[in-house]
Amino acid sequence: MSKRLFSGIQPSGNLHLGNYLGAIQNWVKLQDEYEAIFCVVDLHAITVPQDPVELRKKIIEVAKIYLAAGIDPKKSTMFVQSHISEHTQLAWILSTLTKITELERMTQFKDKSQKDGKEGIGAGLLTYPTLMAADILLYDTAVVPVGEDQVQHIELTRVLARRFNEKFGETFVIPESIVGKKSARIMGLDDPTKKMSKSAASEYNYIALTDDAETVRKKIKKAVTDSGSEIVYSDSKPALKNLLNIFALLYDKKLEAIAEEYAGKNYSDFKNGLAEVIINFLSPFQERLKNISDEEVLAVLRAGAEKVKPLAREKMHQVFDKIGLISY
Ligand code: AMP
Ligand code: TRP
Repeated sequence: MSKRLFSGIQPSGNLHLGNYLGAIQNWVKLQDEYEAIFCVVDLHAITVPQDPVELRKKIIEVAKIYLAAGIDPKKSTMFVQSHISEHTQLAWILSTLTKITELERMTQFKDKSQKDGKEGIGAGLLTYPTLMAADILLYDTAVVPVGEDQVQHIELTRVLARRFNEKFGETFVIPESIVGKKSARIMGLDDPTKKMSKSAASEYNYIALTDDAETVRKKIKKAVTDSGSEIVYSDSKPALKNLLNIFALLYDKKLEAIAEEYAGKNYSDFKNGLAEVIINFLSPFQERLKNISDEEVLAVLRAGAEKVKPLAREKMHQVFDKIGLISY
């Protein structure tokens, strides 16, 4: 049997090119090597306020995006986190083994609490990593493909798994993170020093996977560039470097070849080319997305939940037994 892989994305905000190039594109390749489980982590999304109508739409949309991107339900399992109650059960148990300082040390928590102040955020943002650890540990996950920003959470998951195993006996597999190429960290179009983000203040920060051709052209035109006009890949030109990365990852061409193609041309020629490369990727993707019905995706999610439920139950039986709770 091949090793298990687990990953997930929150159904909040607009999924963008960063999510695709940094995560989903990689999952599609990995599903051939691993026994893969892809989750829509809705309970993580509600650690910040969500509009109920929007949330329900987003859960379905994220699952459709998985399918349209090439996650094959015949090979991989897809389900919604909140449908398997064992996730929250295990998260609670893990939280009793987690120190508050370990949670307060997480960069994601620090960023959010610095922005809104501790008074302004819910306890769920603090305990977020214990739920993520539960997601991973419930299924004897060996590998977790994530972006760089999530590695710290996987490290904590490993610490908690080891702590539990040492205290109560071997129960959890210690997972490893798989981080994609460095170039797959996509930066904001309006600020190349920060990553492209669904929660960005301006929509000019990202290209959403659902943006139409006109919007893509407009956003790429507005994207910040560096001084000078030469098309070169260099750390001293972070904005252009980011745009070249996007170009290369979508076009499946080497950076040198692209730079050569645009030698002697200016930023606006390059931006026009990039916009077309993005549109050439997005139009067939959006066509597939449009053709997936709610019924179809809900059937896939239900089948996925039915498949993982026994695994989650079995793991919780072991956990109950080990820590002295009564299970039957
Ligand atoms: P999030 O959008 O924070 O829920 O992240 C979902 C997945 O997409 C995670 O694996 C992230 O690491 C990845 N991801 C999010 N933003 C980016 C980005 N700008 N570049 C590359 N990967 C990203
Ligand atoms: N926290 C992850 C993110 O924001 C999403 C996530 C939740 C996740 N549970 C997970 C990723 C389990 C991998 C495995 O990207």
